[in-house]
Amino acid sequence: RMEKQITNVKEYEAIAKEKLPKMVYDFYASGSEDQWTLKENRDAFSSILLRPRILIDVSKVDLTTSVLGFEISMPIMIAPTSMQKMAHPQGELATARAASAAGTVMTLSTMATSSIEEVASAGPGILFFQLYVFRDRNTVIQLVKRAEKAGFKAIVLTVDRPVLGRKEDDIKNRFSLPANYSLRNLEEPNIGKKKDETDGSAQFCHFLGEFDPSLNWKDVKWLQTITSLPILLKGILTAEDARIAIEYGVSGIIVSNHGARQLDYVPAAIMVLEEIVKAVQGKVAVFVDGGIRRGTDVFKALALGASGVFIGRPVVFSLAAEGEDGVRKVLKMLKDELQLTMALSGCTSLKHITRHHIFTNSDRAR
Ligand code: FNR
Repeated sequence: RMEKQITNVKEYEAIAKEKLPKMVYDFYASGSEDQWTLKENRDAFSSILLRPRILIDVSKVDLTTSVLGFEISMPIMIAPTSMQKMAHPQGELATARAASAAGTVMTLSTMATSSIEEVASAGPGILFFQLYVFRDRNTVIQLVKRAEKAGFKAIVLTVDRPVLGRKEDDIKNRFSLPANYSLRNLEEPNIGKKKDETDGSAQFCHFLGEFDPSLNWKDVKWLQTITSLPILLKGILTAEDARIAIEYGVSGIIVSNHGARQLDYVPAAIMVLEEIVKAVQGKVAVFVDGGIRRGTDVFKALALGASGVFIGRPVVFSLAAEGEDGVRKVLKMLKDELQLTMALSGCTSLKHITRHHIFTNSDRAR
């Protein structure tokens, strides 16, 4: 049987759904409560339209850029998504290899099923470490030290999860990490629990209870005292918090609603990006994630002032479908689509993409 050719990243979701156990697919795919924000994360892009400029020589289009001083091939990076081995036996290692081959950044989740060290040795790419803060600050210090030692280039501190959002699919499915996997970053000898004392699912439940709901701005300062790595705050949705983040000396901001998995009825990140970019006044880089599925989505984010975007679900779905190869294809399809969008809009490099290349509902109202 001839396999039908995959022509865009959205198609991987249906393949993943067919391949994965329902509990795993639902965990990856779903959002919290009414999943209003989940739908809005996609719909919001449909309300932004393009204003292409014509008769510009687009025989060469340059997608390269830099993030925190590191050269990357395109402004599309990989967001942290937990427990990737449920999607594919190679899990985070496959993702790291695909990111490295594509010349872009992979962000490794604290809740990964591969360790910091394993991922670092998977390839030569640029790695960021996503940090969750546990009640036991020693655990946090060890994670950060390990990431530094393994050559990770930045800490992505997730700030939109002081407590866990309510994903009703996960409640119905009684979601837990299958016992044959484990949260490798949170294992003995690092954390003080013996490996045979606990299987993956028990470990998973244990650490869900260890997230520190007291996490606050003082901890951002504290984090700066334990690491010299640049810190990105992931999960900012207001100009007010962006301004505070700058006062606290962070190196960048990721505008994000956690893929609609935390607070429901927050706007799509793309809808608040511009207010945050304005508040930041170019002092630090602003990135965005949530619902990015097309090159045109990336273009819109850049036109609204983002320095780059991150993708979450397309990675786990393509990983489930085709492993490393799938993730490579996702990155390539998005890159090709962005290049096409730029060419058809008359932009030969990322700095040529301006606010005038799009219009939004608020522009129409004016
Ligand atoms: C996530 N996300 C996430 N974020 C984070 O900071 N730490 C984490 O461990 C996870 N884990 C995770 C698992 C899964 C399955 C998903 C889908 C998402 C959120 C993620 O980094 C990102 O913000 C969103 O996934 C972006 O939205 P899209 O691209 O999935 O629409």
